[in-house]
Amino acid sequence: MKKERLKELAAEKAVEEVESGMIVGLGTGSTIYYALLKLGQMVRLGLEIIGIPTSEQTSQIAGEQGIQLSTVTENPVIDLTIDGADEVDPNLNLIKGLGGALVREKIIAHASNRLIIVADDSKVVDYLGTKIPLPVEVVQFGWESTQMALNRICQRPVLRQVNDQTFLSDNGNFILDCYFDQISDPGQTEVEINRIPGVVENGLFVGRVDRVIVGTADGIQTQDPQV
Ligand code: A5P
Repeated sequence: MKKERLKELAAEKAVEEVESGMIVGLGTGSTIYYALLKLGQMVRLGLEIIGIPTSEQTSQIAGEQGIQLSTVTENPVIDLTIDGADEVDPNLNLIKGLGGALVREKIIAHASNRLIIVADDSKVVDYLGTKIPLPVEVVQFGWESTQMALNRICQRPVLRQVNDQTFLSDNGNFILDCYFDQISDPGQTEVEINRIPGVVENGLFVGRVDRVIVGTADGIQTQDPQV
């Protein structure tokens, strides 16, 4: 089965948990795109929800789908958030942020009573940081110094460039993509990175997930954290 179909299957499965009356956090990325399409269809059939987008990109797509939108300022408690991930480990810890939305995604995840992650099976890894870098959002002021401090934790922190331009997050910050051989202790790494002045947030999501739905060639796999 094609990767896009696996993303769609996972996203549609997650949307089954959305009920009328809910405040729903809307993640960012190509997998969530399918969730937004499905939610749009359901809204046109009468589903009443308020969506809280995690990025300008999602805000635009969700708006086009006719989903009523609000902010975390207006709705500081969110019933359910559905989001994607870049890597998922066996403990359901994540790397997020290749799409650059990690700060808003983490704030909205933290404000949510329930967080469901959707992904295709290419995102599943034994250890985080083995396939992709860890995105770290930093303020522009003194970013070179922040980069030096990050270089004591990871092998290579690289300023993100897109089309020969320095990438700016929706918050107007830079992103340093940090390459590791592997992240053996995600909880410790998350805290250690966030202690560096200039770091706004990093893309490690540790112990935050309530359900992971993975699209595989054999169908949907649902994993919940062990309690
Ligand atoms: C956005 O910043 C990311 O955290 C996305 O949630 C993540 O990159 C997943 O995106 P895809 O579904 O496009 O792989």
